[in-house]
Amino acid sequence: MQFKHATIERSAPLLAVLTLITVAIGGLVEIVPLFTIESTIERVQGVRPYSPLELAGRNIYVREGCYVCHSQQIRPMRDEVERYGHYSLAAESMYDRPFQWGSKRTGPDLARVGGKYSNEWHVAHMIDPRSVVPESVMPAYPFLARRPLGAGDIAAHLVANRRLGVPYSEEMIASAAADLAAQADPEADTTDLLKRYPGAVIGDFDGDPKRLTEMDALIAYMQVLGTMVKFQGVTPADLKQ
Ligand code: HEC
Repeated sequence: MQFKHATIERSAPLLAVLTLITVAIGGLVEIVPLFTIESTIERVQGVRPYSPLELAGRNIYVREGCYVCHSQQIRPMRDEVERYGHYSLAAESMYDRPFQWGSKRTGPDLARVGGKYSNEWHVAHMIDPRSVVPESVMPAYPFLARRPLGAGDIAAHLVANRRLGVPYSEEMIASAAADLAAQADPEADTTDLLKRYPGAVIGDFDGDPKRLTEMDALIAYMQVLGTMVKFQGVTPADLKQ
């Protein structure tokens, strides 16, 4: 074996060819599964594209770099599952562009933060984290409550997501602006919105029903995280669509 290796090391062309073959095998192992990604991610009941307001909130989340401190990936380890809930399924982030997985956490994982706190708690926490969690090191984002939500281009965001494979229908795109406004208005008729986006949380999120702010959108997004798949009383087979 040693003798054979000496032969390889002494011949540059042979070494180059064998290195190339070795690297190619490594590359194939990484690349080939990507072609079968459709069948690798099992579809799971309940997972749906984000509603326009949730998507606008998600854009703010990405813009503000919340992912620098927060992951959205509960790993299948006992301490994580006990703290955050059921470990994340690949399907739960199949419509996330870009995805929010990660292991770098300064703050807690947010994959299942939806429904954990009231809207009022989120507002207080965003305006001044120390007012509700005295030891918090999270920065304050009070300006989100002051800034009107600039979502005139929301339909274009749906179209962009659709190009990347998120199944937004023509109907969803046509009614994007109306759906966005309706979700933050407790008085609005939300029958169609809920048909398109089952389980969407409706309401005035920022405590000021007269204005649609960036805070409304961000909290709508926080409140949907991890709530699409119902884990109680189901077996893994039930979850398959
Ligand atoms: C510098 C790091 C940092 C950044 C940036 C950051 N956070 Fe946090 N976040 C924390 C820490 C630390 C905590 C835990 C203490 C607390 O609750 O304030 C936390 C807690 C939270 C919680 C409560 C989670 C729970 O389960 O109790 C939410 C919700 C949250 N952050 C949302 C956000 C959002 C939205 C953004 C972006 C606008 C953001 N964070 C940006 C560090 C950060």
